[in-house]
Amino acid sequence: MKILVINGPNINMLGIREKNIYGAETYEDLKALLEKTFAEKGVEGEIYQSNHEGDLVDRIQQAYFDGTEGIVINPAAYTHTSVAILDALKAVRLPAVEVHISDVKEREDFRQISYAGKACVKTIMGRGLKGYVDAIAFLVENKV
Ligand code: DQA
Repeated sequence: MKILVINGPNINMLGIREKNIYGAETYEDLKALLEKTFAEKGVEGEIYQSNHEGDLVDRIQQAYFDGTEGIVINPAAYTHTSVAILDALKAVRLPAVEVHISDVKEREDFRQISYAGKACVKTIMGRGLKGYVDAIAFLVENKV
């Protein structure tokens, strides 16, 4: 199975940004965890991160053409603002799981809406980096 993991703005700053919220592990740690999970699950995985909304839209669109069978996405701040990312996910019609490192539902009001989540089969939040592992496992197990 081919799975694409997409991370949005500031996820590359893990381990530096708001450690009390996102933890001390770095983006490099996250990438290592994802590679390990791909290997364990026998998944052909790809990891993508961008701070730019249009680049995220482009990468989602590309997934339609490159054989991707499932998407794990943490749109980060664009979760709460981006109809463009929602539309891209709807356009490609690939099973997608939304991941948030923090427990977004316990945070500010402006984080309570998720546009991308409306196009996702599942949302995992508040489980730290392990949420990505659970999202990959969900896609593999459900072959949704
Ligand atoms: C986040 C939550 C978002 O509200 C925030 O803008 C992020 C990270 C999370 O993983 O908990 O950048 O998506």
